[in-house]
Amino acid sequence: MHIKGRSLSLLISEEKIKERVRGLAREIEKDLGENFVVVSLLKGSFVFTADLIREFSVPVKVDFMWVSSYGSSQESSGSVRILQDLSMDIKDQKVLLVDDILDTGYTLRKVVEFLREKEPSVLKVCVLLDKKERRKVELKADYVGFEVPDKFLVGYGLDWDEEGRNLRGIYAVD
Ligand code: IMP
Ligand code: MG
Repeated sequence: MHIKGRSLSLLISEEKIKERVRGLAREIEKDLGENFVVVSLLKGSFVFTADLIREFSVPVKVDFMWVSSYGSSQESSGSVRILQDLSMDIKDQKVLLVDDILDTGYTLRKVVEFLREKEPSVLKVCVLLDKKERRKVELKADYVGFEVPDKFLVGYGLDWDEEGRNLRGIYAVD
């Protein structure tokens, strides 16, 4: 498979993702119980969020935020902008923040600070992928799907300049 003329190598198959997402859902609902709010960061986490919420056996609410960070297409930067705020009030609610990948940590640090000001009763962070060795700021997710190597990844919602989000597995760009 190719994107922009570069070949892709499969890193995590569709089946492995499905199995892990199910495991994450079990862990999360054991900790959070029912009636929590899933806050999903657009656009990268929409595929993960769609699969994760359907593995919960408890009632949940879902909301979205849109954040972007300046920088080149493959590198996040320190200046993260909130483009679209939540539509719901999360004061005194249990919140699960969901993102596709934790890389430098700038994005989630900013969003966690932003959400804390809204005074949720609980705020947990769940990421499908964690590129641990790339971290620039201290931030630990409460739930991690897979630790991944320092390679640029596409698929399952993750993009390279908007391409590749629709791939069913997760691929490294060679
Ligand atoms: P951070 O702010 O550096 O932690 O970056 C988080 C955001 O950068 C993610 O939500 C993704 O949108 C994007 N990102 C980081 N690494 C990758 C990657 O390998 N592929 C696609 N997007 C990535
Ligand atoms: Mg993203």
